[in-house]
Amino acid sequence: MNKFNISNKRLVSHIAKSFEISLGDIKKIIKNFHSEMLKGLSGHKSSLAMIPSFVDMPKGNETGKYIALDLGGTNFRILEVELKAGGRIDVIAEDKFKLEKEIVTGTGRQMFDFIAESIKYFLHVHKMSLSGEIDLGFTFSFPLNQTSIAGGILLFWNKGFSASNVIGKDVVALLNAALKRQGIDNIKIAALVNDTVGTLIAKAYGDSYCDLGVIFGTGTNACYPEKISKIKKARGLKTSTGYMVINTEWGNFNKLNCTSCDTKIDKASSNPGRQRLEKMVSGMYLGEIARTIIIDLVERKILFNGNIPSVFSKPYGFDTKYLSEIESDNSKNLMIVKNLLIRLGIANAGYTDSRLIRNISKIVVMRSAYISAAVMAAVILWMDPKIKRIHTIAIDGSLFEKCLSYQGHIKSVFQKFFKDKADKINFVLAKDGSGKGAAIIAAVASRL
Ligand code: GLC
Repeated sequence: MNKFNISNKRLVSHIAKSFEISLGDIKKIIKNFHSEMLKGLSGHKSSLAMIPSFVDMPKGNETGKYIALDLGGTNFRILEVELKAGGRIDVIAEDKFKLEKEIVTGTGRQMFDFIAESIKYFLHVHKMSLSGEIDLGFTFSFPLNQTSIAGGILLFWNKGFSASNVIGKDVVALLNAALKRQGIDNIKIAALVNDTVGTLIAKAYGDSYCDLGVIFGTGTNACYPEKISKIKKARGLKTSTGYMVINTEWGNFNKLNCTSCDTKIDKASSNPGRQRLEKMVSGMYLGEIARTIIIDLVERKILFNGNIPSVFSKPYGFDTKYLSEIESDNSKNLMIVKNLLIRLGIANAGYTDSRLIRNISKIVVMRSAYISAAVMAAVILWMDPKIKRIHTIAIDGSLFEKCLSYQGHIKSVFQKFFKDKADKINFVLAKDGSGKGAAIIAAVASRL
């Protein structure tokens, strides 16, 4: 049996405290977020890149068949989509391809060749014509210097990608060259889109209140429509409505209180100093945060009698999906936790171990959701300081979808923060929005 004495209890509650986000912290986050937004839009140094997307909100009357390519997480997807106007979007065909580590950390040429080969396979399997122009929307979910609706230069990689010779290059040109090498010459890349922009546009296609697109998946980010007159850093931007969707790249927001655990993870990552919010919030990192706390407690002999179980011994070995499963266990006997620990090869965990693992998981998930709620509130308040309008937030990503308590936490923050106005802010799961939205944007772009 582990000894769980008073000083151990104090240590655990100290950890819990360092992960707490109070209402006061939320107000501070919002204030700092607004000042970073302003700097980002003006072209001053800011942790928020605030990238103009060259995309305006959809009219809802776009129609036709398009191909969408979705690259930016653990899987790479190709979809054939039919737009039927008024919010109706049919996915006619869809294939998922696993992006192995060797592909995303090898050479850029290999990675784009793999994508082009997959497109060739997709066209063949789904019997699509190799003649006649096909418009394609390319969702590429990394920070870009977007130069046009169908052009953008990669600023830097994140989420574990590091393919060489891509940073500083136009990713549309790289994909075009790879398509050529595969002998495909009837695909026109009509739009280059961030996944948040796709998610926003896909939902807004049928819901005119939707004005925030968010991803809580492997990474995290958001976009919203901004008045062009406020995008001071880019002159000469034009849309018919005077608004343009801005990709905030909020994963890089760096005005947050970090714990020693966050600092450790950042230092050991492939991009130290970058994506500080993402490293506290997104699916790629939550399991690793929990693992770092757990290792510390094992080393202090508070957990597992001081022996590190193998699932916790390797960096990133403890997946966020386990965290979601564990933190959902509110039962007295913690059967879900016990069974999962057994599945992970830990047969001899005591009740104290299980309870601690469950509590750590809860702390990590809750902080993520509270920070998420704070930055969503920040963007809504930026657009509508007195919350006079109704807002729909379209959210996609496995963390939001699969972690059961996440939505409840966000709701409770909104209720505490916005009080009687909280009812005006609805958030919905917009599944696969990034691919569908890329098709809508391709439709608008090809019409232009
Ligand atoms: C990372 C990328 C961003 C993307 C997000 C979600 O933060 O930089 O572009 O939207 O992940 O996939």
